[in-house]
Amino acid sequence: MELPDPDSVPRREFCKAAVALGGAAGLSACLGRGDGSVEDGVDGGPLDGVPAGDSDGAPVRQHAWNDALDRDEAGNVVPPVHHVLRYANIDRGDASRAESRNRLEAAFADLERAFERSAAGLLFTAGYSPSYFDRLSGTLPESVDLPAPRSLTGLEDPALDETDVLVHLAGDDPAAVLAADEALFGAATAANGVAVTDASDLFEPVDRRTGFLGPGLPRERRDVDGIPDDAPIPEGAPLFMGFANGFAASQATEDRVTIGTGPFAGGTTQQVSTIRTQLDAWWSQESHAQRVAKLFSPTHADEERVGEHGERLGSDPGVADLPEDAVAYAREEGVVGHAQKAARARENGEPRLLRRDFPTTDGDHTGIHFLTLQESIGDFVAVRDAMTGADIADETAVGSRVNNGILQYLFVRSRGNFLVPPRELRALPDANPRQDR
Ligand code: HEM
Repeated sequence: MELPDPDSVPRREFCKAAVALGGAAGLSACLGRGDGSVEDGVDGGPLDGVPAGDSDGAPVRQHAWNDALDRDEAGNVVPPVHHVLRYANIDRGDASRAESRNRLEAAFADLERAFERSAAGLLFTAGYSPSYFDRLSGTLPESVDLPAPRSLTGLEDPALDETDVLVHLAGDDPAAVLAADEALFGAATAANGVAVTDASDLFEPVDRRTGFLGPGLPRERRDVDGIPDDAPIPEGAPLFMGFANGFAASQATEDRVTIGTGPFAGGTTQQVSTIRTQLDAWWSQESHAQRVAKLFSPTHADEERVGEHGERLGSDPGVADLPEDAVAYAREEGVVGHAQKAARARENGEPRLLRRDFPTTDGDHTGIHFLTLQESIGDFVAVRDAMTGADIADETAVGSRVNNGILQYLFVRSRGNFLVPPRELRALPDANPRQDR
């Protein structure tokens, strides 16, 4: 990919492109060093306005991000803006597991010293796939539900992401995310002015995916494929579909998604579906009311509950107070909403998924990296089944795609499942640490 001319686009848009480009070149560009002076960009000392951190006192849970993030006026967690997903295999070469583990842990701890654990600094998790654990002696304990990824609907034929490790890096400052990425996977020996232990030789990078989440950002990037160039995405909308998501009442708590027992207690499971969105018809054929009906519910559209992009919803999209029988509802309305369908999978009224998804323009096409945390992958499968709504399609005139929420606009490209261990096991964990260590 090529960077836009820095003089012709807003700084924020330029840096978003730099995150997608990545590497020393992306970092140099983002720091305003358009001369491509790699060393400057990589080892250039403290970054402007990016607070340093402290690895002492970090929580047990790698995924405990909510306390480190701000809330908006309604009390919803404000997610970090820039995201990088690094898929890699592990190659220890001749090094022992213990030596490799210590070196990787040192690199992670150095990153925590380099960056405050916050959106202004850096948040990250390291997760490991079923195929990583399959190669080790011993098996995962029963308290961990981590099957291999597979196709989950009749409408998809996804690639399966089976690399050993997935590192998720996130922060508001693009330079911070890029500097951490370069220190962990690239040639940089320091980040934000702090030396970082070199563990890059342990990784064989396989894929790098990127995205962004914030009001106005999709509108700035509607020049890609998958959406009309003049799509009237509201300024305040963080999603290409023109709305906000992640309302507090529709999100699982971090407690709900945390594994409670066994050696991985304090960890969680992570699934990432990489989804392409094709939004030409969404924007050129649907009215605002139809978009609201398909994303939330027809009741939301009739009662004008949502507003332009979700600003009327506060912290609760109110999808749990709709008639429980979605099949009867769909028969009556001829349309069923996405969030309304997904909410059928709540357990005791509580959402099971903590969604940390973010839009992307990887491949110069609109999409979403649908990253979720849940206690077990079974939780994800149950929610995805509810969202797919095959029962609704079978029993009503609502199609398997058309008028069935937003399915007709989504194309699942890949799926991956990972275990995000508690922090003390985040570097090359054994399959059953209590037994194997
Ligand atoms: C382009 C893709 C998607 C978009 C734009 C989207 C958007 C939304 C929006 C706007 C909401 C309502 C408010 C909120 O987030 O708090 C929602 C809710 C939800 N979505 Fe999606 N979504 C997408 C894909 C998915 C997928 C693939 C799943 C898979 C399971 C999913 C599961 C859920 C769940 C569980 C809820 C909350 C339901 C509840 O309140 O219990 N979404 N989504």
